[in-house]
Order: sequence, then structure tokens, then C-alpha cells
Amino acid sequence: MSPVTLDEPRVQSSTTRKDLLTVTDHRTGKSYELPLTHGTIRAMDLRQIKVSADDFGVMSYDPAFMNTASCTSRITYIDGDRGILRYRGYPIEQLAETSNYLETAFLLLNGELPTKPQYEQWAWNITHHTMVHENVKDLMMGFRYDAHPMGMLVSTLGALSTFYPEAKDVHDPLVREKQIQRLIAKIPTLAAFAYRHSKGMPYVYPDNDLSFCGNFLNMMFKATELRYQVNPVLERAFEVLFILHADHEQNCSTSAMRGVGSSGVDPYTAAAAAIGALYGPLHGGANEQVLRMLAQIGSKDKVPAFVKEVKESGGEVKLMGFGHRVYKNYDPRAKVIKQMADRVFEVTGRNPLLDIALELERIALSDDYFVKRKLYPNVDFYSGLIYQAMAFPVDMFPVLFAIGRMSGWLAQWQEMIEDKEQKIARPRQVYLGSEARDFVPMIKR
Ligand code: CMC
Repeated sequence: MSPVTLDEPRVQSSTTRKDLLTVTDHRTGKSYELPLTHGTIRAMDLRQIKVSADDFGVMSYDPAFMNTASCTSRITYIDGDRGILRYRGYPIEQLAETSNYLETAFLLLNGELPTKPQYEQWAWNITHHTMVHENVKDLMMGFRYDAHPMGMLVSTLGALSTFYPEAKDVHDPLVREKQIQRLIAKIPTLAAFAYRHSKGMPYVYPDNDLSFCGNFLNMMFKATELRYQVNPVLERAFEVLFILHADHEQNCSTSAMRGVGSSGVDPYTAAAAAIGALYGPLHGGANEQVLRMLAQIGSKDKVPAFVKEVKESGGEVKLMGFGHRVYKNYDPRAKVIKQMADRVFEVTGRNPLLDIALELERIALSDDYFVKRKLYPNVDFYSGLIYQAMAFPVDMFPVLFAIGRMSGWLAQWQEMIEDKEQKIARPRQVYLGSEARDFVPMIKR
């Protein structure tokens, strides 16, 4: 739909006046009518607003994309004010209650829940792509004993692109499908190898007789026993945790996946970029930081002093696991995890840091500072307590997030590739630097 100006009134038949936004440029006195679709104007429609023919035209300025939609999507819906999250229309609570991770991954990628034969084929395909080339193992052996597993994951995932050169053909749907299966199947293997490396323990190969989550737990924790017994409560907890983390529309790492993928690069390289984004403490690294924060607080009675420190720090000290760009209500994922915690603790024993977390939540939710800013616990606040109780070291927490999020990254990447409106992502800037000036030789500076 092309924009129209009042000088040239041309309202298209499908556009009623209710679907138009009138903008007046007081520099010229001209008014413009910009079409509104789904409550948005097209930023490119602003470019016709000029003071002279050779003027570049108006741009929108939106650091951190606070109010800019970069795509249309049919995958995940969030209503941040009401604390609602749905994948392809299905409420997250229902998926967490009844689905499993692979079924949810299929849903995200294909738009519909699988039939029984579709599910069985899908699960078979994933199960039979869990192995990694032995050279990947050798590559991992080269890391220092204390390498952070996220660092190992970023690099090994990127390295996988060298094993599958055909993956470059991102416009071939069959090639894409194969890489999607490989990525979802192999990321638990890489994650578990990274952990075993840090422990100095031999890597455990995938076991096709186990479920997606059972296999992951086996690769993580199998020691000398002939057959590692996967605890069904922990296995189910992982299904739920991976479902909850599977997608979250245009967050930082998904935007990285789409942005890097928009250059046409293979999905292994794009996913490595997404994992890099997830690693940061404000994103997937937050669950690690929550545990460090709780341990640093040390005991329930020290919570009020810590909350005071957060409030007085002017934004410097944050209550990790609190706040969200989109949710201005309780994160629905945090609710599910909090409810699940008791079931896990019955098996693992109660995490002693839980009391500090509950006290922190109680005080924060009744404190004016947090209430005014609508800061509620997010998905990372309680997930770390569960991971720790299951014996995962804190630096594995963001890795666990990455395993679940892989299906969402791939669904979003695929949607981007198939979207005819998308091109290489290339934001504009507002240049505020020096005007043109002549080079000064060093001797004269
Ligand atoms: N503790 C204390 N104050 C906070 C917090 C917090 N966790 N989060 C935001 N604020 C304050 C912030 O200082 C600001 O105050 P003021 O208006 O006085 O300047 C106000 O609340 C608005 O915050 P913002 O930084 O403008 O919000 P944002 O949308 O840019 O940031 C966020 C969102 C998630 C990065 C931020 O809330 C944060 O840093 N939280 C802690 C890290 C965290 O838990 N991240 C995980 C997010 S959920 C999972 C994921 O995406 O990976």
C-alpha cells in the first residue's frame, strides 16, 4: 500500500479513513496520510516527508528497538501486560502441562501439532542425528579445562557449518529441513560434551533408546554404571523447561538469528551468533547471575539490605531474574517453573537458596520501586534453583536455555527466509560525528 499526501488525495478503496494516520510537517505545513496496518505505520512511508526534493526524508529513531516491529510473525504471541504467552495460538501453560519438547518444537516449526505418524517420524529423525563427527570431539578437547561451556557451544556450533557445506543452500526447503533436524538433535550432545570436558570426564555418546531429555541427562551424568537410570521426574522437568524456553518472539538472540541469517549465511553460523547473544547477562546469562546473586546475599535476613542496595544504586545493581522488556506482569513461564520446583525438590532435596528467592520476591513485589516499574520475576528467577538442585553447575544454565531455544531460533529463521518482504537486515543511523575535514599529518597534531 503506497502512502498518499493530502496534496494528492488518493485513498485506496481498501483503506478507510480510520486506517490512516495524518502527520503534519510543520517545517513545510504539508500533511501526509500514512496507512495503518495492524496498528503500525511503515517506517519507509516517512521518507516521503521532506523539506526539499533533495532532502533524504524523515526516518524513525528507535535505539534498542523499543517500539519497532522488524517482522511479521505467526509463531509466538506475547501480551506482556496480561502475562500471556502462546506458541502458534496454544497457551504455554497447556503445552507445559501436556506436550513434550519435540512435539512443541514441531509445532513451532510447522505451525500445527503433529499427527501420530508425523510425530514418530520427527522424533526418529531427531534421534538419528544426535551424533557429532569425531573431529568435533577433538576440537572440544582443545579447550582449556575451565572453558565456559557457552564459549565452547558458540564455537563448536559455528564449526558444525564446516561439516555440512550444503547447509549454505538456505533457499532449498529440503536442505533447510535437514539442518534444522541436525541442529535440534546435536545441540544437547555439544552441551553435554562441554560439561564433561569441564569435569575431565569422558564424553558419553547419545543413546537412541532414550527420549530427547533422557538422552541429554544420560550424556551429562552417566558415570561408571552399566546403565544410567534417568529419573522420570527430572526427565519430565526438562521437557517442561525446554518447552518454556523454546521461543519468545523477537528477543535479543532471536533477532541475532534473524539478522545474521538475513545475510544468507548457513543456520549453524546464524545459530552461533544467536548463542552469542544469549550468553549475555541481561539475556540467557541471567539465570546464572540469579544464582550468584542469591549466593552472595547468603541468607534470608540479608534480603532487605540487598533490596535497599538495588534501589539506591541508580540502576547499577539489578535484581537479576526480575524485569522484562515485554512483560509488565508476572512472566507466565516463571509461574510454571515455580509450581514445578516442589516436584523437583522432592527428588533432589530442597535448594537452600529457595528461601532467599521467595523472600526476595515477597519483598520486591510489595516494594514501591518494583511495583511502579512493573518489575516481576521472569523465567530466569526460579529456573536456576531447579538446575542447581539437579546438580548442574551455574555456568551450564545458559547452555540449558540454548538447548530449548534452538527450535524457536530455527522456526524464526525459517519464517524469515520464506518472508518475501525480508531483505538483509541493515538499520540506519543518525550520524552526529565530525563534518568533513582535512587529514592532519602526525607531526602537526
Ligand atoms: N532490578 C532493578 N531495577 C530494574 C531491573 C532489575 N532487574 N530491571 C529494570 N530495572 C529498572 C531500571 O533501572 C529502570 O529504572 P529507571 O526507570 O529508574 O531508570 C526501569 O526499571 C526500566 O528498566 P529498563 O532497563 O529500561 O528495562 P529494559 O526493558 O530495557 O530491560 C531487562 C529489560 C530484562 C534487560 C532488565 O529488566 C534487566 O536487566 N533485568 C535483569 C536481567 C534479567 O533478569 N534478564 C532476563 C530477562 S528474561 C529472559 C531472557 O530474555 O533471557
